Amino acid sequence: TNKDAMYRPNFHFTPKAHWMNDPNGLFYLNGTYHLFFQYYPEGNVWGPMHWGHATSKDMVTWEEQPIALFPDEKGYIFSGSAVVDINNTSGFAKNGETPVVAMFTYHDAIKEKEGAVDYQSQALAYSLDEGKTWTKYKNNPVIKNPGIKDFRDPKMFRDEIHNQWVMVLAVLDRTYIYTSSNLIDWSKQSEFGLGIGKHDGVWECPDFFPMQVEGSNDIKWVLIQSLNPGGYNGGSGTPYFIGDFDGKTFTPIEQMKNLPEDHTYWIDYGKDNYAGVTWSNIPDEDGRKLFIGWMSNWLYAQEVPTETWRNAMTVARSLHLKKTEDTYRIFSKPVKELDDYKDTKIEKSSVVVDKNVSIVDTTDASLEKAVIKFKIPDFEEKDVAFSFSNTVGDSIIFGYKAKTHRFYIDRSKAGKIDFNKDFGNHVSTGPRTSKETYLAVTIVLDKTSMEIFYDHGETVMTEIFFFNKPVSNFNALKTNSSYSVEDITINPLSFNKN
Ligand code: FRU
Repeated sequence: TNKDAMYRPNFHFTPKAHWMNDPNGLFYLNGTYHLFFQYYPEGNVWGPMHWGHATSKDMVTWEEQPIALFPDEKGYIFSGSAVVDINNTSGFAKNGETPVVAMFTYHDAIKEKEGAVDYQSQALAYSLDEGKTWTKYKNNPVIKNPGIKDFRDPKMFRDEIHNQWVMVLAVLDRTYIYTSSNLIDWSKQSEFGLGIGKHDGVWECPDFFPMQVEGSNDIKWVLIQSLNPGGYNGGSGTPYFIGDFDGKTFTPIEQMKNLPEDHTYWIDYGKDNYAGVTWSNIPDEDGRKLFIGWMSNWLYAQEVPTETWRNAMTVARSLHLKKTEDTYRIFSKPVKELDDYKDTKIEKSSVVVDKNVSIVDTTDASLEKAVIKFKIPDFEEKDVAFSFSNTVGDSIIFGYKAKTHRFYIDRSKAGKIDFNKDFGNHVSTGPRTSKETYLAVTIVLDKTSMEIFYDHGETVMTEIFFFNKPVSNFNALKTNSSYSVEDITINPLSFNKN
């Protein structure tokens, strides 16, 4: 319907039709980025899960492909990962092909209905044609259920440091770490997570990898560990842990050893970035850690006001590990490939905000797809506030409150909010951890989403919205102290260059 089309993102990935949740099986091979996703091709709410598939040359524009994995008598195809088995350690290739090996969770819905607890197990599928078609391994499952209900979302990767395959699995309230030499036989090495961080809900969709600490030769290991419910602002959310890995056991850094429930290590403080994981097989020359998340929240994902399809992915991001004054933190940035779509830049000189000011409106640039950047000098102890708005009174307000040292997003007037009480009734907040004297802001704006990268990506807030008319204005709002906005650039994005 028309109503739908106005909510379809311009460049964030959505399936043409039907339900989508988590990104799965991310791998890169021969110039193509693959994105698989939890998909229900017969409805616009969650249902028997398949792996949908999309491909891209640059992680910005996506082409949907035929469904990769269908449920079968062993169950639905839940979340998982894929690796490129360059040396054919699995033996799945017979004629010199390079196998791509996926591990997913079988979710046996019949067993579940019958009241069993052992209905989730891990299974393999492989592709000998670069991810186009898949064969399920004949001796599935490769990891049986040990009698624990929540036992899912295997994320495999090649651990070059210890010369082995590693897989992390979400198991109710902790992460299991497994190793293998052939991707088929897996040995459990350790558990992580009990008594550390937040446990309000179930741990889901882990990811685990080494990263170089920027500006040094040090390596630290990062464990991303989604949690639902229990997100920082309710519903689903994604904390991370930093530490060391000896090939078997993950040991968090000193600063995280007794990490309380209420902590400041989250990939994103907005409500709409969940189950995010990273691409495998990125070439060494590139060396980036590339991440994408599901841009929704289990609180309301099945009720958002679209009919044809439901839900989108975030913009792809590169992750960076930095040592700060007193700890380590992950910074996220939109992938630089997004820059290739930037149209003529609009620059605005410094604006002093002592009353509400319009910074850009549609006479300057379309705000339906744009990257907006600006800085606020002498930032400490100042409240700042901004809004995106339209001609029919919808607005989304965001900014920073000095008293609480928190960023916030307020969707209470953001057009359609009444489809679910948890969508607009709560102002999301995220703590500022940076000690910079100025505030740098980058916003990636699409028709129905904003992704705000504060402090070069140290604090990120991603949220979706459903205005009754497109965003037409970007404004700076008066607060209790005057402030100036400087180095403003607005880059409309254009996707019809060829
Ligand atoms: C996370 C999740 C995963 C599961 C999948 C099912 O959003 O609950 O744990 O594998 O969705 O679709």
